[in-house]
Amino acid sequence: MSSILEEQNTTLNSSLLLEAHNLNHKFDYELFSDINISLYQKQSIAIIGTSGSGKSTLLNILSSLLKPCDGEVIFDKKDIYSLKQNELLKIRRKDFGIIFQAHYLFRGFSALENLNIAKFLSGNEIDDELLEILDIKKVIHQGIGELSGGQQQRVSIARVLSKKPKIIFADEPTGNLDKKTALVVMDVLFNYIKKHNAGLILVTHEEELAYKCDKVYKLDNLNLQEIR
Ligand SMILES: Nc1ncnc2c1ncn2[C@@H]1O[C@H](COP(=O)(O)OP(=O)(O)O)[C@@H](O)[C@H]1O
Ligand SMILES: [Mg+2]
Repeated sequence: MSSILEEQNTTLNSSLLLEAHNLNHKFDYELFSDINISLYQKQSIAIIGTSGSGKSTLLNILSSLLKPCDGEVIFDKKDIYSLKQNELLKIRRKDFGIIFQAHYLFRGFSALENLNIAKFLSGNEIDDELLEILDIKKVIHQGIGELSGGQQQRVSIARVLSKKPKIIFADEPTGNLDKKTALVVMDVLFNYIKKHNAGLILVTHEEELAYKCDKVYKLDNLNLQEIR
């Protein structure tokens, strides 16, 4: 009973950011069917599951990168896959912040130049405090190729957050990081969503990180089970 009340409270106090209905997807074999999920402002959701269970595929569908075989992803009251390509691109560029394990930085440029690209595209200033917290301020003038994998990952996270997305989609965002740095990065993401009324959907195989989120789902046996 109390959890029902809590759920109602969350619904009343914060507004809906993203909603997925009846998602189905298959490549060579069926990955999942009838997946439903809702994300609210200030909420963090983790999706765990074994390798190959379809976590990245589900995140790609939720984050506008892959049209599902069936089902809808509602953002701003519209199914994003019913939009025209340029409208979808606008959402992906302005409202969605997508963090991959393999980060897509421009390698011929410095860390700062990569951040300036995000600044240019979004019109938002780079958050100096964020660079300090992520401990990348001292390498900001170095070329991307000279940075360690973990430093590159943190630059890419800073770049995504600089554009002030409404939703962060993160696929194993701490995969290249040691445990201490992983916790710093998770804190950065949690603080960001609280401060900016944003939401976070995190895919990870690390249960410990998953349990730092408000809700935890497990992708298993074609279904998404709520385990917290
Ligand atoms: N673009 C694709 N084309 C064909 N099969 C794919 C594609 N992307 C993923 N798959 C397959 O779907 C399954 C789930 O992959 P993925 O979503 O990456 O799982 P996870 O992230 O949980 O490890 C895997 O068997 C993978 O080979
Ligand atoms: Mg994956």
